[in-house]
Amino acid sequence: MSFRCFLALVPLVPAVFGATYNLADSIIGPQFLTKFSLQAIPDPTNGRVNYVDAATASAQNLTFASADRFIARADFNAVLSASGPGRNSFRLQSNALYGNGVQIFSINHMPEGCGTWPAVWSYAEPWPTPGEIDIVEGVNNQAPNQAALHTTPGCTMPATRDMTATATFNDCNTNVNGNSGCTALFTSSPRSFGPPFNTNGGGWFAVERTSQFIKIWFWERTDPNVPVGVRDGNSDVNTDNWGTPTALFPNTSCDIASHFADHHIIINLTFCGDWAGSVYPGTSGCPSTCVDFVNNNPAAFANAYFDFSFIKIYA
Ligand SMILES: *[C@@H]1O[C@H](CO)[C@@H](O)[C@H](O)[C@H]1NC(C)=O
Ligand SMILES: *[C@@H]1O[C@H](CO)[C@@H](O)[C@H](O)[C@H]1NC(C)=O
Ligand SMILES: *[C@@H]1O[C@H](CO)[C@@H](O)[C@H](O)[C@H]1NC(C)=O
Repeated sequence: MSFRCFLALVPLVPAVFGATYNLADSIIGPQFLTKFSLQAIPDPTNGRVNYVDAATASAQNLTFASADRFIARADFNAVLSASGPGRNSFRLQSNALYGNGVQIFSINHMPEGCGTWPAVWSYAEPWPTPGEIDIVEGVNNQAPNQAALHTTPGCTMPATRDMTATATFNDCNTNVNGNSGCTALFTSSPRSFGPPFNTNGGGWFAVERTSQFIKIWFWERTDPNVPVGVRDGNSDVNTDNWGTPTALFPNTSCDIASHFADHHIIINLTFCGDWAGSVYPGTSGCPSTCVDFVNNNPAAFANAYFDFSFIKIYA
């Protein structure tokens, strides 16, 4: 029995199923430098970072593209003056805006090191009216990954839902819980972040956005069950075949369409600041203080880099 037939017979089933999507944009190798822009802006989350422009990133080899790989890294040579700017790093923003559909990120390596706070996320200005979707995020090498939504008031998530991640905070409103957002911790995927992600060869993150839900999946590189369309970034993908999402954000008590608009994709790496810095002295197991460590130990950031195989966008 086809899925559509099933829906027709059981009209009250929640509309949480997937669909087939076609490739709309493909970002590989040098296209990361033409379809994204480096933004030399201050970090609003107070990181010990100096986001550089495209010319500086290229001159210092902080961005590097081959035909089929793209690397973006922090500086790992300079000892920093405590009174000067933070460690050189990157904030890449997609020139295009992307809305409902699917995004697949094939990532071979993500930044690691004490004090690092890498992220792959999407949003638009004026924040937070069009919403924010955090796909990859974490601090201080601490797996697993955490996904989150940040919204204007009136968007909450059911505590129990059909996903493999663990719901932690359930109010997406930026004004509550210190702007934690509504969060899903990838407890079922220990190799979804940091050093365990990297030693396993990385993996695929995928987002499906509709007016009824936002879903995020993670498959580690060695997962024999990664859908072939995801693995290869095929010309079309069918999310019906992707199984239970790692994180599910349904519209049950959140009107997704009014809390989320088209988004830029952001890939960035900051240090310390509001999250990585605040938890550094706690359970991170990292030495010294966060800012001193970032200032004085450049070699500790040799592995503070993203290595992407591709981003594929489907609509
Ligand atoms: C620039 O970075 C790339 C990727 O990490 C590396 O393969 C290459 O050798 C670097 N080039 C120089 C001149 O250091
Ligand atoms: C969620 O989406 C379904 C399907 O489109 C719709 O019927 C329902 O009204 C939506 N619920 C909310 C709370 O927006
Ligand atoms: C990325 O950049 C945004 C905006 O500049 C900032 O709010 C956020 O803290 C940064 N996050 C990371 C992980 O660098």
